[in-house]
Amino acid sequence: MNPVEIIKQKRNGIPLGREQIKYFIEGYLKGSVTDYQMSAFLMAVYFRNMNEDETFFLTEIMLESGLTLDLSHIDKPKVDKHSTGGVGDKTSIILAPLAASCGIAVPMISGRGLGHTGGTLDKLESIPGFNVNYPVKDFKRILEKAGLVMLGQTSELAPADKRIYALRDVTATVECIPLITSSIMSKKLAEGADAFVFDVKIGIGSNLPDKDESLQLAKKLISVSKKFGKKAVAVLTDMEQPLGMKIGNWLEIEECIEVMNGKMVPDLFKLNNVLAGAMLYLGGAAGSIEEGEKVALHKLSDKSAYKKFLEMVEIQNGDVNYVKDWANLKRAEFSKQITAEENGFISEMNASDFGYAAIELGCGRKKTDDKIDYLAGIILHKKTGNEIKKGDVICEIFSGKEERLGPSEKRLKGAVKISEKKPAAIPLIIDILY
Ligand code: URA
Repeated sequence: MNPVEIIKQKRNGIPLGREQIKYFIEGYLKGSVTDYQMSAFLMAVYFRNMNEDETFFLTEIMLESGLTLDLSHIDKPKVDKHSTGGVGDKTSIILAPLAASCGIAVPMISGRGLGHTGGTLDKLESIPGFNVNYPVKDFKRILEKAGLVMLGQTSELAPADKRIYALRDVTATVECIPLITSSIMSKKLAEGADAFVFDVKIGIGSNLPDKDESLQLAKKLISVSKKFGKKAVAVLTDMEQPLGMKIGNWLEIEECIEVMNGKMVPDLFKLNNVLAGAMLYLGGAAGSIEEGEKVALHKLSDKSAYKKFLEMVEIQNGDVNYVKDWANLKRAEFSKQITAEENGFISEMNASDFGYAAIELGCGRKKTDDKIDYLAGIILHKKTGNEIKKGDVICEIFSGKEERLGPSEKRLKGAVKISEKKPAAIPLIIDILY
């Protein structure tokens, strides 16, 4: 086989067989297929798509590129959640400790920033010292001890996704159902959970702005889970505007800590509870999602989730004092307020533009080796539907480099629309599929 022929076959829209996909993925990991060939392959898949069989083979081969954990010795339901990617989408940081404090074991392998969407690993690494790269024996040890572990893909677990994910981030090949499915499922299946909750984002700020495609993705995530003998629920949720009030790595950790300490951030709070309810339901700790929500709410309110979060930070080598000192606000050196130019109601806050504006500030990468500015980000003062007067602050932007503020401001000016009439409210939870 020859990598060029495989790329050409995919480019010409002829489906690939299992052996060809295996040859290509394994070759990439061994070094006989180069980054530029993988980039061309990903772009060919982006334009030509993959059929059901190809998507399944790709998932299976990416899974087989590393170990699949056996967690059967852990005497708890093992449930994880994964989002298809959004802006300000930080629920994993609250949800994993919350579910763990409700008796669910949470073996979570997450990703970094992808395209314009943020990544849990980058957020966790904004806590000085926090390690997301433990070997498998430590993955199990942390999970057994704390009831949760939050790591990245490693050379042992989902290595193919680790490499391909980083390349997709900077080659405009994120928005593609088979690539998203295989990326998510290879990580989730490797970590050894029994059941998965998928938060499938719908809207302009998701990784699949087309609503029908998001629905197809939700169905595919459920069907691939079932093929591998796992239970799954997909919650379809709005991503027209950013989630919560903060975007950026440390800023999002800060917002999660605020919520775990009783602050009400309505959309983040609601979504977190529904996803927690679904995790408890799948884990058998509640008879329905609604019942699970009630149990989770109690554990959030009595600060069990926050205590569990601190326990995880400590065990994963993060600086607990830095976290506990959250109320002593940590901000990037340079900032600017973005204000309204007219009176009215905010009718749109384009989540995709907010994501790209955050990357301009230093929250994400434009090249694979770009360094992240952990304190960079955006604080929203208003959300869609809010009334606003000329001169009111819509949001505030932060960066460690002053020259980054201008390009971000420019992007945000086009991202916010103001109308005379109050727009209809956008539902946050659009549907739940089993
Ligand atoms: N999350 C992932 O892990 N992979 C994707 O491709 C999109 C979201």
